[in-house]
Amino acid sequence: MKTVTLSTLQAYKRAGETFSCLTAYDASFAHAASAAGIDVLLVGDSLGMVLQGHSSTLPVTLENIRYHTHCVARANPHSLLMADLPFMSNATTERMLEDAAVLMRAGAQMVKVEGEAWMADGIRELTRRGVPVCAHLGLTPQTVYQLGGYKVQGRSAEQAQKILDDARQLVEAGASIILLECVPSELGQAVAEALDVPVIGIGAGPGTDGQILVMHDILGVSSGIKPRFVKNFMAEANDIHDAFRRYHTDVKERRFPAPEHGF
Ligand code: KIV
Repeated sequence: MKTVTLSTLQAYKRAGETFSCLTAYDASFAHAASAAGIDVLLVGDSLGMVLQGHSSTLPVTLENIRYHTHCVARANPHSLLMADLPFMSNATTERMLEDAAVLMRAGAQMVKVEGEAWMADGIRELTRRGVPVCAHLGLTPQTVYQLGGYKVQGRSAEQAQKILDDARQLVEAGASIILLECVPSELGQAVAEALDVPVIGIGAGPGTDGQILVMHDILGVSSGIKPRFVKNFMAEANDIHDAFRRYHTDVKERRFPAPEHGF
């Protein structure tokens, strides 16, 4: 199996091919997901909810992400490995640089950061120093208390335009990937069409270049309310390896997400 790099994802975009992404937090599951063909593994701060049992991602520390990135990096045969900058890593450009360095030393190949156009300086400085960045827009879980809950973003024309403008500015600053969470499918497609860089969606409809889900959700082991964009791939699978393969194939063949998974 070929190693996936940023250039691979850019080539998929140019060819109109979609790609699969999944969160991973430990060596065994990371190895299984990568061996099943998943293109991108994300050590997400969702670990605060699915591993640690918190009700938000805010308690997750840099040390938590560093530890899990190190575990995943040891057992990742071919996927691109992305790690999340946790809550408040984006407080200053200096802090973004220092925190990104910790995650890159632990084995990450790029970092993901939540925020809006105001992060442009931090992204520019990271990119200058050779750290590829994925900018996370739309529903940004680190701002859940300001947003008033885990709600769909970009429903009004003004909000949608702001998300598109922010994405453009962050790409101009150097972001190599945009990740859109919980936005109307129409907006997901519009952002992907407007940008030259790959756009990954979660609850952003079938029109984005790649799709991502949380591993525990596709294995059907998450507790609490199941968001509309989630599909349990374990339901029809023989085992976990088969569930990962089904998710990967359904994304590649554009069977997932179906219209009912979007907003
Ligand atoms: O932390 C995470 O797992 C994420 C994904 C939901 C995109 O940010």
